[in-house]
Amino acid sequence: MSDSLQNVVHIASNRTIENAARWLRKGELVAFPTETVYGLGADASNDLAVAKIYEAKGRPNFNPLIVHFSSLQDTAQHVEFSETARLLAKRFWPGPLTLVLPLKTSSNISKLCCAGLPTLAVRIPCGEIAQSLLKRLGQPIAAPSANRSGQLSPTSAMHVRDSLRENIQFILDGGAATVGLESSIVDCSRDKPTLLREGGLSREEIEKVVALDIATDAIDQEAPSSPGQLLRHYAPEKPIRINSLSNLPGSGVIAFSNQDLGHSGELLNLSPTGDLVEAASNLFAYLHEMDRRTISEIVVVPIPEVGLGRAINDRLRRAAEAK
Ligand code: TXA
Ligand code: MG
Repeated sequence: MSDSLQNVVHIASNRTIENAARWLRKGELVAFPTETVYGLGADASNDLAVAKIYEAKGRPNFNPLIVHFSSLQDTAQHVEFSETARLLAKRFWPGPLTLVLPLKTSSNISKLCCAGLPTLAVRIPCGEIAQSLLKRLGQPIAAPSANRSGQLSPTSAMHVRDSLRENIQFILDGGAATVGLESSIVDCSRDKPTLLREGGLSREEIEKVVALDIATDAIDQEAPSSPGQLLRHYAPEKPIRINSLSNLPGSGVIAFSNQDLGHSGELLNLSPTGDLVEAASNLFAYLHEMDRRTISEIVVVPIPEVGLGRAINDRLRRAAEAK
């Protein structure tokens, strides 16, 4: 790796977070850790800065961005909260839940964040570094996951650097993301709150607060309501076979619980104790890791379709279908 690539990574401290805020104020991009995955951030009120996100990610323009806030009060200045939305926000923020809400006409958020939609996706992250950055900047931060479009979401500063390379000049390093899966997305702008993306907050947890519709309309369309649901979205380079209990010599196995297939080659276990939260936090890191190893294909054992297992399986299916 060249020195210039190494110099973009800064261990998070008061000083580097202040520098990151200054960089954002100038309209530049900063990658930063949230509790879910690393985000590629820009000052959400600065059109040019937001446009740089699309450019750096190579992201299709119709794909809107999540805007991050430091408080519910700030958020409410930009979007309309229904009663349900307020209930969800009060219960789960700060945390791994994104709400899609109608944008207020008075908001100064760049329209590029909505990519033509009348709604805005908003969230309050609970990571300490993300919170500190938001407070110092004093502005909301637009941030998709900090990877090239169609690649894996990054859960470490190294993943960000490897994926974005010369397209990123400042990465705040806060260690491994604790949740390790993107936020769950609930669209509260529809008649009934609708789950657009399974993520770091399980459907069961959300349904303890409100009844949900599950989006089924987004999977196979050219312009889905949550383009995160485009099939080619979370794909390692290597061929991947999911739900499999058999493997060929030369393959790498991603195991779960005690289902390690008695494999003697490359093996990573998402959670030897069968804990789906631990599995979720390891998922992207292990897919990245298998992609680096000398193997012919990645084989993933069946993951239970409950709780965070559904989000894990959703990511795995997309990765497999993209091949
Ligand atoms: O955990 C996360 O959500 C991370 C961290 C950085 O916050 N962010 C993230 O962003 O995963 P991104 O851009 O990779 O995924 C956001 C998803 C996309 O699928 C996007 O299409 C959808 O949210 N989205 C954004 N705005 C939307 C809107 N107004 N209506 C429907 N879907 C929207
Ligand atoms: Mg993403």
